[in-house]
Amino acid sequence: MAKTIKFSLDGRHLSALEGETVLEAAERSGVRIPHYCWHKALGNPGNCRMCVVEVEGTTKLQVSCRLLAREGLVIRSVTSAARRAQASALELHLLDHPLDCPVCDQSGECGLQDYYMDIGRYPSAMREDKAHAGKSIPLGPHIMLDQERCIMCTRCTRFTSQVSKSHELGIFGRGHSQVVDVVPGRTLDNPYSGNLADVCPVGALTDRDFRFQVRVWYLDETESVCPGCSRGCAIFAHTSTRRPWHNKGRRLARLKPRYDSDVNGHWMCDAGRYGFADFDSDRLGKVMRLKPAAAELSWEAAQREVAAALRRKSAEGLAVVASGALSNEDWKAFKSLFVDTLKASRFLFSPEPDQVGVEDELLRRREKVPNLEGGKTLGFGTQIQSMSWDGLAKDIGAGKVWGLYVVDRDPVKVWGEKGRKLLERLDLLVYQGPCKGLSGDLAHYRLPAAAWLEEEGHFINFQGHVQGYRQALKPLGAAKPDWEIFAGMEKDARV
Ligand code: FES
Repeated sequence: MAKTIKFSLDGRHLSALEGETVLEAAERSGVRIPHYCWHKALGNPGNCRMCVVEVEGTTKLQVSCRLLAREGLVIRSVTSAARRAQASALELHLLDHPLDCPVCDQSGECGLQDYYMDIGRYPSAMREDKAHAGKSIPLGPHIMLDQERCIMCTRCTRFTSQVSKSHELGIFGRGHSQVVDVVPGRTLDNPYSGNLADVCPVGALTDRDFRFQVRVWYLDETESVCPGCSRGCAIFAHTSTRRPWHNKGRRLARLKPRYDSDVNGHWMCDAGRYGFADFDSDRLGKVMRLKPAAAELSWEAAQREVAAALRRKSAEGLAVVASGALSNEDWKAFKSLFVDTLKASRFLFSPEPDQVGVEDELLRRREKVPNLEGGKTLGFGTQIQSMSWDGLAKDIGAGKVWGLYVVDRDPVKVWGEKGRKLLERLDLLVYQGPCKGLSGDLAHYRLPAAAWLEEEGHFINFQGHVQGYRQALKPLGAAKPDWEIFAGMEKDARV
């Protein structure tokens, strides 16, 4: 076990683990020392000189990101000498920095703005024209570069060399003409490129998807879990419903990684971050009977009718398609309805073919659903085996299946045109999900389910971590969480 070291910072008694720097220990304890270049996951090149502190018993100021905590150290970060040095470093960073805060997407979460208000507030000594460099340079599908705003903290180049290991970025030129840029002939398109907008402290690298969409002070922040794969990265969902911003018709503004040392560290992949840009498109908001006589129904009427229809014929001919996108709460109500009450025995819950993706050493997992493990704890995948998509198609084709209940899956997408014909043969097709997809119009009953940001629940990731996510948005229209739909139907199916 690492030794604990006690030291004092601005009169507070802090403890550090052996080998920790003063800045690191301070951050962990919630005490803020100004800094730009240090990042917990990217190291401390010591080039921004913002983190200077006074150390009792020494004559020179020292950078706290390279100062190892030692027993009994007495450190002060807010004395006039330390503040003067921090403000001077800030002034140097701002010498050539354009004053384009009103049109900068970093505004509201910019390290330069924040520290200027905290420790700057000096009159500018800059009289000449500022040096100019490249503006709005798209580096890849997700990241835009503004070279004038860069303060050469090198977090971005360290990210591409140490974390993504893709080496697309470098520092070019010398002195006053030094710039960050992409290596000639390369594009910044590694699967983790979105993290560069997070690590850049000043708005030199911004997110192309988020640019000019909404000011950050209009965003609400909710703790959530990415449902893009079985890693289940801890994330923040940033939503904006108080201010209309309809350029893209979105309520979900962006997803950002939330630090979790056991699951994703500081990062998330681009597929997770940008995979939900169309969160509100193709959504279902009405409870519908489409066949034989089309009508909008109340939930009570729909649950009654569907429950009766599910019991009309033998349980052997009823098949249920679900997926590891269900939360633990959904899985529990799902099992209670289909296994315990309706005694169904044909289940398909393995991922659709396009839900099996690329895996790597950093975060991405092959199975592109978040909660197969949650199903396993209830026996789905252990005692209850999943059919294959081909097997289900064959059984429908052979007339062995008369009824199909589909939860947030899209058989037509998997089977193509042949799937449309198969679904049309069924006596009963119930389609439940947040989106209509290609199969929604073929159903006898179409039930709108809340999307993951519109409900709260839990997933279990591939490592066995149980992770809770909170509700960030109201469900669209009449949509309800899946577990609530199953539970309501079960009441009617029991009688
Ligand atoms: Fe210490 Fe940059 S954080 S020099």
